Amino acid sequence: MSNPFMPGNGIEPRYLAGRDEYVELFTKSLKSFEDGLPRNTVVSGLRGTGKTVLLRRFKIIAESRGWLTVEREFNERFSEEEVFAEALVGDIISKATEVSIIQKAKQFGKRIGDILKPEELTAYGISYKPYYKGKKQLLEDHLKEMLVKNWEVFKKAGKKGVVFLYDEFHTVKDAKDKKSFPLASLLGAISYAQRNGCKYYLCIGGLPIIMTNLKTAKTYTERMFELREAGNLEPTEAEQAIVNTLKSSEYEFEQDLVNKMISETRGYPYFIQFYGYFTIENTSKKKLTLSDFTKIREKLLKELDKNFFVDRLNLASGKEKQILFAMAKIGESDIETSKIKSASRMDKHVMLELIKRLIEKGLIYRSDRGKYGFSLPLFRDFLLRAR
Ligand SMILES: Nc1ncnc2c1ncn2[C@@H]1O[C@H](COP(=O)(O)OP(=O)(O)O)[C@@H](O)[C@H]1O
Ligand SMILES: [Mg+2]
Repeated sequence: MSNPFMPGNGIEPRYLAGRDEYVELFTKSLKSFEDGLPRNTVVSGLRGTGKTVLLRRFKIIAESRGWLTVEREFNERFSEEEVFAEALVGDIISKATEVSIIQKAKQFGKRIGDILKPEELTAYGISYKPYYKGKKQLLEDHLKEMLVKNWEVFKKAGKKGVVFLYDEFHTVKDAKDKKSFPLASLLGAISYAQRNGCKYYLCIGGLPIIMTNLKTAKTYTERMFELREAGNLEPTEAEQAIVNTLKSSEYEFEQDLVNKMISETRGYPYFIQFYGYFTIENTSKKKLTLSDFTKIREKLLKELDKNFFVDRLNLASGKEKQILFAMAKIGESDIETSKIKSASRMDKHVMLELIKRLIEKGLIYRSDRGKYGFSLPLFRDFLLRAR
């Protein structure tokens, strides 16, 4: 019988623990948008806390209520306006084409999968224009036009609306110096479309820095989005994640082992899956005890370091690593720059530059003004082990 734990990236767990409230709130937000009040959601959290998995759950809910969904994983490349415009407009057009083809197929018994030709797009009421920055049109205006003009297509197809499920969206940032404003343009265009009765729901996920990016882009984002923080699971939720996952299998963990897993993983979803998976793979019993786990614990930590932490640490240069080790000595989150400075014995400007680069590499994040924390759960413990 197979191992019921699923450590991985965006892989649906057998049992989704501790997210009932978020799922319910998302359903409610869809309902209220259907009744006319625009809603948007941002899912923020560290790596491996279950953001992607939650977005996928949202997708299923939205589709079951008659919404169309668009999924996309972003990266730094999309911070360029033209690339961003192509992605967003491409998503709108491909969805519009999809519903049009389905309608056409229904009407004429055509085979779904026939692609609409560009000249056919207009016949179906689909508007498409590529975006060229050189043409002096503002990205925001371009997006507004594409969103509003294509709305009729979705409405005619009897769809409730379109949910954009945009993951890793913290990578999309505005840059004043490059006159590049993908984020502000999107927020402005979506708000405009929503005010004009178009039901486009923006649901984005990303690392905690996403909140700062949003606020910097447009001051009204607090009113535009509801924030769902994907964090570590509470002990009772972590217990459910373990126990309910095991229920679908022939394995059993004694209570002491469950408790040990809860405390060592501190409820971080990825680690729960990893601990469970590894423990089962490395013992040959069906009923596992705490002492079975204790025997393989060293090996598990080594594997976890190898699989998860070492590659991440090696993203950092020698000097950047010094900052990380200095931070680890101090604490886990809300680490003040003054303390990092004295622990690392570095020049302030050098230190700030290194911090900036570590943020860009996704290893640390700004938790507050002048305060920083590690983006990876349990990274501090690893650094203390690795020293
Ligand atoms: N609520 C949850 N309960 C149990 N396991 C979860 C939960 N959320 C995520 N996981 C598991 O944790 C791992 C990381 O999830 P993922 O969605 O990729 O995280 P993120 O997108 O935040 O980096 C996956 O193996 C997934 O199956
Ligand atoms: Mg993810």
